[in-house]
Amino acid sequence: MHAGASSSYLRNLQWAQPNGPISPKTLPLNPYVSFRVSAVAAPPPQLKFQRTHSMPPEKVEIFKSLEGWASKSVLPLLKPVDQCWQPQDFLPDPAKTREEFFDQVRQLRDRTVEIPDEYFVVLVGDMITEDALPTYQTMINTLDGVKDETGASSSPWAQWTRAWTAEENRHGDLLRTYLYLTGRVDMTMIERTVQYLIGAGMDPGTENSPYLGFVYTSFQERATFVSHGNTARMAKESGDPVLARICGTIASDEKRHENAYSKIVEKLLEVDPNNAMLAIADMMRKKITMPAHLMYDGRDPMIFEHFSAVAQRLGVYTADDYADILEFLIGRWRLEKMVGLSAEAQRAQNYVCGLAPRIRKLQERADDRARKMEPQSVKFSWIFNKEVLL
Ligand SMILES: [Fe+2]
Ligand SMILES: [Fe+2]
Repeated sequence: MHAGASSSYLRNLQWAQPNGPISPKTLPLNPYVSFRVSAVAAPPPQLKFQRTHSMPPEKVEIFKSLEGWASKSVLPLLKPVDQCWQPQDFLPDPAKTREEFFDQVRQLRDRTVEIPDEYFVVLVGDMITEDALPTYQTMINTLDGVKDETGASSSPWAQWTRAWTAEENRHGDLLRTYLYLTGRVDMTMIERTVQYLIGAGMDPGTENSPYLGFVYTSFQERATFVSHGNTARMAKESGDPVLARICGTIASDEKRHENAYSKIVEKLLEVDPNNAMLAIADMMRKKITMPAHLMYDGRDPMIFEHFSAVAQRLGVYTADDYADILEFLIGRWRLEKMVGLSAEAQRAQNYVCGLAPRIRKLQERADDRARKMEPQSVKFSWIFNKEVLL
C-alpha cells in the first residue's frame, strides 16, 4: 500500500465490514506487506468519491454503431458450449462405481499431499476472486452503451457479457470443487470470504464508461492469464499434473477473453483515438485495482494484502507482472506509434508509455527496503489458521 493509502483502506473497511469501522489500532502493523504489495495490489479506491457517468451521453452512439463490428469480430471469440470444457472433465466421476469414484478421490488427495500450504493460500485467493463473478457481471452491466438492458438483450455487447460470464462461471466452480476434495483447506472460511466479497462488491473506478471498463477488463484478463499460468506451473512442480492442467486450461480461457477485450480497446483507439488514449491513462493513473480488493474473511482485515503478498513472494502475481502487462498492452495497441493526437492525449500517451520503467524502479526500491526487514508470517483462516510467510 502506498503512503496515505491507509486512510482510504480504512474507509473501505467501514464499507465492507458488517461490524462497522475498525480502528487503526486494531490493524496489524505490517510494513513488510505494505512495501511488497505496493504496485501489485493498488490501494483500494476511495469509495466516498465514486464518479459516475463520466462518458458524455452522445458517445453511447459509438457503441451502437460498433454493434455490427462486435458481432463479427468479438462474438466469434466465444466458444460454442458443446466445445467447451466443463468442470466435471477434471473431477472424480460420481457416475462411476462407488469404489472407482472413491479411488479417484484418493488419487486426487495423494497428488495434492506434497503441495505446500502457501500454494493453497494463493490458489484459494484466486478461486475466491473467480467466485465473486456476480460482481464482475454487475460491473460490466454498469457500462453505458454496452450494458444488458433487459437481462436477455440481443445486442452483441450484452450477448458477449452473458456468454463471457457463463464461460467464467466454470473457473470458480472447478477450482472450488477441486479444493474441496483435497481436504487441505477450510471450506467454511472460504465460503464465508466469498459471501463477504460478493456483498462488498468492487470499485474499479470505471465510472460507467465502456472506454474505462474495457481498458480495465483487458488488463484484468491478462492478469488472471498470468497468475493461473503460474499456479499451473507450480502445481506441476509440486507433483499434481491434473491441477496443473486445470489451472492451464483456465489460463487459456483468460487469454481468449483478454484478446476480446483488448480488441475492443484497439477498435476504440481506431475510431476515437484521443478519448481511448485518455481512458488508458486514466485507468493507469488510478492503478488497476484487483477485482477482489474488498476481500474479508471475518477475521483478518488485511487478508487481501496478505494474500497478495504471498502471491508476490511465490511469483504467482507480482509487481513485475503488472509492469509486464502494461508493456504488453502498449505494444498490442501500438500506443507509442500513435500520431495525430490532441495535446491532452499526447500527454496521456507520454505518461502511459513511460510508466512501466517507473513502476519497476519503485518496486526495486520497495524490495530493497523489504529485504532489510524481518520476514513476517501470518495465519490464514483458509488453511485452518496455519502460518505462512509473507
Ligand atoms: Fe476467470
Ligand atoms: Fe477472466
